Amino acid sequence: MEVSGLLETEVAGLRLRNPLILASGVLGNAASLLRRAEEAGAGAVTTKTILPEPTRGYDNPVVVELPFGLINAMGLPNPGVDEFERELREAKSHLTIPVIASAGGGSPEEVAHVAGRLQDAGADAIEINASCPHVREHGLEIGSSPELIEELVREVRRGVKIPLLVKLTPMVPDIASLAKAAINAGADGLTAINTVRATYIDVEAMSPVLSNRVGGLSGPAIRPIAVRAVYEIAHLGDVIGTGGVETWRDAAEMLLAGAKAVGVGTAVMTKGLEVFREISEGLSSYLSRKGMTVKELIGRGRDC
Ligand code: FUM
Repeated sequence: MEVSGLLETEVAGLRLRNPLILASGVLGNAASLLRRAEEAGAGAVTTKTILPEPTRGYDNPVVVELPFGLINAMGLPNPGVDEFERELREAKSHLTIPVIASAGGGSPEEVAHVAGRLQDAGADAIEINASCPHVREHGLEIGSSPELIEELVREVRRGVKIPLLVKLTPMVPDIASLAKAAINAGADGLTAINTVRATYIDVEAMSPVLSNRVGGLSGPAIRPIAVRAVYEIAHLGDVIGTGGVETWRDAAEMLLAGAKAVGVGTAVMTKGLEVFREISEGLSSYLSRKGMTVKELIGRGRDC
């Protein structure tokens, strides 16, 4: 793995050749797709959230595309940990960049079980998903309470020896209290943010478009919310800033807010995997122009 040069960074103990991480939920359920993300220039990849058992997810439609982003309600479709373990081993036999495995479940014990299995299958880090905005018992009931986050992270930490990240929801009055709880309980870093609860109604059909009615908004519309969240928690621990990043400017903004790495999700769906190369090249030119490295840029927007 190439880990030198302007773009090199470190987050939660992971060394990255560049700060761009394929966010969870996008292409992350097949080894071949994770490999394509590496070839396209990602610095690390995150898998789709894996649950103890296979889950079909919601009926279609599960995604609605708007001029300013996407609303999705997939319902955490996944092959279950038994099946995904094989896919992860296959991915790890080819990839040279770190693989962050997203673990979910309906209780701290279930999440801990999935996380342990993904660790044993070769994951380089675990990201706990306790912030899905629209699946009962897999998100906001736990993810918006500092006490429940702390209990969850402690349980998972007992068995997880590799870097542990927690993906946070922005839909709370004080995201710093969630970040503190996660770090106090032993997390090595935070991913901010998950999608924002949203609905889209078709005015001709006079009904919500998504089969689940409510989903999670991602894309450019939520970027300022993500930047604000990163800004509010970056002093508490390592952060992967995720939410609406489409261009090198967006990535630079996340780093300036204090993120040590940057998640790219919706832009991969709307612009294709080339977006990794495009952002890296733009970021390199910007850094050369400023005479700085990524590591020097991190947090520089927090000074005043
Ligand atoms: O519907 C979904 O699979 C979304 C998951 C999430 O936002 O965490």
